Amino acid sequence: MNTDQLQQAFVKIFGEEADATFFSPGRINLIGEHTDYNGGHVFPAAITLGTYGAARKREDRKLRFYSGNFEEIGMIEVDLDHLVFDKKDNWTNYAKGVITFLKEAGHPIDTGFDAYVYGNIPNGSGLSSSASLELLIGIIAEELYDLKLDRLDLVKIGKKTENDFIGVNSGIMDQFAIGMGADSSAIYLDTNTLEYDLVPLDLGDHVIVIMNTNKRRELADSKYNERRSECETAVEELNKVLDIKTLGELTSQEFDQYAYLIKDADRIKRARHAVSENERTLRALEALKAGKLDEFGRLVNASHVSLEHDYEVTGIELDTLAHTAWDQEGVLGARMTGAGFGGCGIAIVQKDKVDRFTENVGRIYTETIGYAPSFYIAEIAGGSRVLSRKS
Ligand code: GLA
Repeated sequence: MNTDQLQQAFVKIFGEEADATFFSPGRINLIGEHTDYNGGHVFPAAITLGTYGAARKREDRKLRFYSGNFEEIGMIEVDLDHLVFDKKDNWTNYAKGVITFLKEAGHPIDTGFDAYVYGNIPNGSGLSSSASLELLIGIIAEELYDLKLDRLDLVKIGKKTENDFIGVNSGIMDQFAIGMGADSSAIYLDTNTLEYDLVPLDLGDHVIVIMNTNKRRELADSKYNERRSECETAVEELNKVLDIKTLGELTSQEFDQYAYLIKDADRIKRARHAVSENERTLRALEALKAGKLDEFGRLVNASHVSLEHDYEVTGIELDTLAHTAWDQEGVLGARMTGAGFGGCGIAIVQKDKVDRFTENVGRIYTETIGYAPSFYIAEIAGGSRVLSRKS
């Protein structure tokens, strides 16, 4: 969508021109999965699929929202003085959460606004449509009320919305990637210290193909929170002898020596993934920086293996995509991306092999699963931003 189309859509719904238009990306994660709430490293990147917005400040205390994706729902109106989670308010709960926590942090939001939103991230695809929306609402408020906001504060408010307003115990990866993304770069982030590096993503003559299982994933309904608490319990068990806050503090060697303290076989596997994936992410960064693309690809594959067998968050759909991708010509590596349980995978594919790749993987997936996957080429671009201001 371009800014003219956004303005036209806004005028059609709200009758007047918007003060500004906005874009907030989605994200993929190259490697470092389920490590962000374990104090480990992640390596995501913002993409050009995302959520567009147009907004205009109001004089009264009403917030009015309209989504071009949910036209059947129509306009949702909420009151600035009554921002509580309400299932019937659907997607606007994310907006309510962000505004609530901005106000709570002392930012002056004294009047309401009208907002039109349109996203092209497939819903429930694991490309973080919810964090994209949270950051979009954040930059709308920042712009309309001229807030003095650090981008990192906004990232944290997005995460707080997910954790405390929506009830998903997610880590900081998605909001960080979306808020801090940069053109052609992935973000190597230490989720413990929040130190990060923007790493130019030079994949030679390869592109990243996003493979959508078209199986919807609902984070809140998934085993996401269960995995998180399994890891927390493992930390408690390890702390009978050790003194650690997160699994990200351990090397594989240290983990091996103390794994006997964990009293459940599944929990050992969950913790082992958190530790090994963190190490793989560091090795992947080094391989990429050294231009060792084959090694980078193999680490991406190994990440999937660990998520499939140790963390057990893949499922037949993601496994079929990854395993089939591994067998294709011109593929450096492939794995699930995001939380898992459906959603999307990524494959790093030689440019001139992409057509053959999507044809073969699409056919085999459809034969195995019974419906077709979708494919998109991921373009890596900047974080949440203002697109235009009313002149
Ligand atoms: C979801 C969460 C992230 C992260 C990933 C798994 O996307 O929102 O915080 O935990 O799953 O790596």
